[in-house]
Amino acid sequence: MSDTTLSGTAQSVAPHNDRQPSPAGDRPLEPFERGIVSFVRRSGRLSPKLQKAWDEQGPRFLLDLPRDPQGRSLSVDPSLVIDESYIEQHWGNDHPLIVEVGTGQGENIAAAAQAHPDLNFLALEVFPQGIAHLLHRLGEADTTNVRIGEANAPLLFAHNFASGLLEQVWVWFPDPWPKMKHHKRRIIQPAFAADVRRCLKKGGLLRIATDIDDYALHVHEVMDHAEGYRNIGTKEVALATEHVGKGDADRAAQMPHATFLESERFEGRVLTSFEKKGLAKGHTIHDFAYQTI
Ligand SMILES: C[S@@+](CC[C@H](N)C(=O)[O-])C[C@H]1O[C@@H](n2cnc3c(N)ncnc32)[C@H](O)[C@@H]1O
Repeated sequence: MSDTTLSGTAQSVAPHNDRQPSPAGDRPLEPFERGIVSFVRRSGRLSPKLQKAWDEQGPRFLLDLPRDPQGRSLSVDPSLVIDESYIEQHWGNDHPLIVEVGTGQGENIAAAAQAHPDLNFLALEVFPQGIAHLLHRLGEADTTNVRIGEANAPLLFAHNFASGLLEQVWVWFPDPWPKMKHHKRRIIQPAFAADVRRCLKKGGLLRIATDIDDYALHVHEVMDHAEGYRNIGTKEVALATEHVGKGDADRAAQMPHATFLESERFEGRVLTSFEKKGLAKGHTIHDFAYQTI
């Protein structure tokens, strides 16, 4: 399968393992399981336009996710199972499901859903303003194949999605957490990779993009040797092989470099506000596609 295609292949139908959702299994607890989260939840009221979108479109698009009584406010009850029958119930069909993590203002998922009515999409986001923007877009376009989960995304991969359920998982421009002491808050972590793999079909794809070179190195470190994936990128990219922190990025140019494999820009992604900002600053956009084996 070309790494620019949106939907999966015939071989991606069967679940590739039958492990049931479990919190951590036999691996050590990762940052998000220790209460360290990849986001800062900004407060603030919705503008009247966004509040209207929330009130009018929320009932159509927002999933009513049961909360974890023991967890933080954006934790979903770990006993909720999101499987084929849940998809049938909430999307009204059995089309393949693509999950986008951290949809921001939803430019990308709204466009992808319009372009692919034969696929189902789930937006996971913690930022109410972003969700309200997405609700507004979906209402304007009268989209039917998107649902939104207001939730801390890694926990859904750890607990809620049935094994082998998902076609693709997208993480576009994750929060960079540039300070060294904050790198543990980056959403791409070994446990996240392992949990996403369990949830993906065989031949499914985890796609990531970032405009931060140091985050690109972080993705290679976490993903290139992650069990059960292969990096299907063919584009050679040189990166410093040591990390730099906030205010230190210029030092990277003088450091030893190595060549890594990345992917061509994913054609299924529209230019989001974050990608535009990165390009305006002269940043390189790094695209990654990891296929489950
Ligand atoms: C830098 S923004 C990028 C937004 C969008 N993907 C884009 O390209 O425009 C990262 C987004 O991820 C969301 N986010 C961060 N951690 C998250 C988590 N654990 N669960 C769900 N969303 C998260 C943030 O609220 C933010 O909207």
